[in-house]
Amino acid sequence: MAVLCLLLICFSAGEAHTMRALVGDDVTLSVDTTTSSDISESVMEWSRLDLSSDIVHLYENRRTKYKKQNPDYKGRTMLSAEDLDRGIISLKLSGVRLADEGNYTCLFNSKDNMYSVQLLVGAASSPVITLEGGNISSLVLGCRAKGWYPQPKLSWWNADGHLLPAVTVTTTQDPDRLYNISSTLVVERKSPNRHLICRVHQELFNQTRETEIHLPENLFRVLKQCSPKFYGFLAASLVFLLAALVILAIACRTVHKNSQKQKDMMVTSCQNEDLKT
Ligand SMILES: *[C@@H]1O[C@H](CO)[C@@H](O)[C@H](O)[C@H]1NC(C)=O
Ligand SMILES: *[C@@H]1O[C@H](CO)[C@@H](O)[C@H](O)[C@H]1NC(C)=O
Ligand SMILES: *[C@@H]1O[C@H](CO)[C@@H](O)[C@H](O)[C@H]1NC(C)=O
Ligand SMILES: *[C@@H]1O[C@H](CO)[C@@H](O)[C@H](O)[C@H]1NC(C)=O
Repeated sequence: MAVLCLLLICFSAGEAHTMRALVGDDVTLSVDTTTSSDISESVMEWSRLDLSSDIVHLYENRRTKYKKQNPDYKGRTMLSAEDLDRGIISLKLSGVRLADEGNYTCLFNSKDNMYSVQLLVGAASSPVITLEGGNISSLVLGCRAKGWYPQPKLSWWNADGHLLPAVTVTTTQDPDRLYNISSTLVVERKSPNRHLICRVHQELFNQTRETEIHLPENLFRVLKQCSPKFYGFLAASLVFLLAALVILAIACRTVHKNSQKQKDMMVTSCQNEDLKT
């Protein structure tokens, strides 16, 4: 029976309470000591055992001890004095970074009072839509979003809320764990979809960012004007122009050479005349 109780206590102490925060946010890691009285005289230590310098925040004799604090947490942690009065240990962490993700242990007075909080950190940003290319019959749109965590999903939608099939979806990950995601979509000229939405979503953090684009009718008209016949004409004109330029260059050179010869002759004749006098 005693063994069973011990196991239960172990489980409840080891079971981490999970919190989520986005990069840049402030988050408060809270532990209820169930003392429900003023605990500001106690010793409290927040630490992260996976770090070599493991102290996140140390509080002793009603004071915060900064000496042993991990430099990454310098100036970013604060204990709520108000909550200590009520027996709650609330540590506010400002400007959350991706590297803050981890398991935080809170020791209260002794090792018997140990609590765990797991902090998960996410990151999100708005996607950007670009025109990647096009011809008379279709346009290629690109959509990209950078700096997401964990890995997000990207989708294209029309104004009626119908999912549109993407041609490509590519995800890359930086050494600092952040994901970039990009996708391309082909819009046919005959397609009724003029209003398009690119949506990036991350399920765990329930983050959604979207960007819309409205394709003006004249975008296709401009591309239509540039029909293959036009390109053919343009190409023929360029060949003709190039030929004309080459002929002109040869002609120029010949004329220049001739005038140089004449100049040389003149100089020689002048010198000859000088000699004569
Ligand atoms: C934190 O603890 C959980 C179990 O509670 C574990 O799955 C996870 O890997 C730990 N995370 C880190 C960064 O150690
Ligand atoms: C126009 O571009 C689309 C997408 O790149 C391509 O599938 C199609 O064959 C092109 N059409 C013409 C006429 O070039
Ligand atoms: C993600 O996008 C950023 C900004 O465009 C870029 O600097 C970075 O190299 C990209 N990372 C990867 C892995 O593609
Ligand atoms: C996700 O967030 C949206 C608002 O952004 C909210 O309406 C929805 O209920 C949330 N879903 C979950 C599962 O929390």
